[in-house]
Amino acid sequence: MSDRPRPAAARWLPECTFEGQVALVTGGGTGLGLEMTRGLASLGAEVIVASRNPAHHGAILDEARERGWKIHAVELDVREPIAVERCAAELNERFGHVDLLINNAAGNFLCPAERLSSRAWRSVLGIVLDGTFYCSRYFGRSMIERGRGQILNIVATYAWTGMPGVVHSASAKAGVLAMTRTLATEWARFGIRVNAVAPGPFHSEGAAERLWPEPGMRERLESQVPLGRLASAEEVAGHCLYLLSPASEYITGECLVVDGGLSLGRNMWAPGESRRKPVVG
Ligand code: HXC
Ligand code: NAP
Repeated sequence: MSDRPRPAAARWLPECTFEGQVALVTGGGTGLGLEMTRGLASLGAEVIVASRNPAHHGAILDEARERGWKIHAVELDVREPIAVERCAAELNERFGHVDLLINNAAGNFLCPAERLSSRAWRSVLGIVLDGTFYCSRYFGRSMIERGRGQILNIVATYAWTGMPGVVHSASAKAGVLAMTRTLATEWARFGIRVNAVAPGPFHSEGAAERLWPEPGMRERLESQVPLGRLASAEEVAGHCLYLLSPASEYITGECLVVDGGLSLGRNMWAPGESRRKPVVG
């Protein structure tokens, strides 16, 4: 067993928080998904990482062996409904239940809307919107049968603010937000909570490569964040774990924004201008 410190994402919750629970994290081998996987496993959950590329699974499986965590990996393309259905059936058979579904898998890149091809649109909508629905439907059915379970969807603040260059992702995330609230109301009576987290930009290889690839872009982005920096994937994961934990058991249909204030309003006035006294008479 490793004597490395606990993952930062898990530091605020008791060590047994997810003991006895089985979690599925889509895209759980990289970026935010990886940090959620590490945090959940270190707090007692048995975690299944599901994504397309087995090369993204090796490092977390190695770490799990070293630390004594229970982590498994399955190859899955969440855009394929038949594959998702089969995966849900196999995992329910093998583990008896999947208590926590984290819809984290995503695809994104910057492209002006007028140049976005139909295949590119479909690809991102397929991963983010269809994939979240397929996983929710197939894993949700067995949660309904058991009368308990939780779904956490990862969205982005541009689901409601919009942002140039990401019409595919913003449209898909807006759909996922609507899905979060709809399923929260439909499935509360089955003991299922459905929530979302909307991170601001945080460093992951996937995001950095596609969204702030040029030198200086990250710094410019950081300078716009009221709290003055990007989040780390670990700290975003920590907030996700909070929403999944019993600490938030009366919260459903909520979207927690974790963006250092980036999506809030900006000053319309030049510095000092808004503090001038109004001229009267
Ligand atoms: C324009 C692009 C493109 C780009 C791909 N396409 N990249 N178009 N600009 N940069 C087009 C292709 O030309 C093709 O259309 C279509 O998209 C499908 O491309 P494929 O490569 O065949 O798709 P696929 O192998 O399925 O890969 C999916 C992907 C890829 C989304 C394109 O980027 C991916 O696998 N991403 C996963 C990781 C990721 O994106 N992480 C970022 C998460 S960050 P044509 O018409 O040419 O055939 C995030 C939020 C950040 O989500 C928020 C910040 C605030
Ligand atoms: P990332 O590391 O690039 O992760 C994306 C993951 O999705 C990868 O592990 C990938 O694994 C998986 N994936 C992609 N297509 C898939 C498919 N068809 N089926 C199954 N898995 C698939 O990205 P990240 O930055 O950590 O993003 C994680 C989440 O946070 C996403 O929902 C993203 O939209 C959201 N988010 C990120 C930011 C940011 O700034 N980074 C900001 C706001 C929101 P495979 O390649 O192995 O399939």
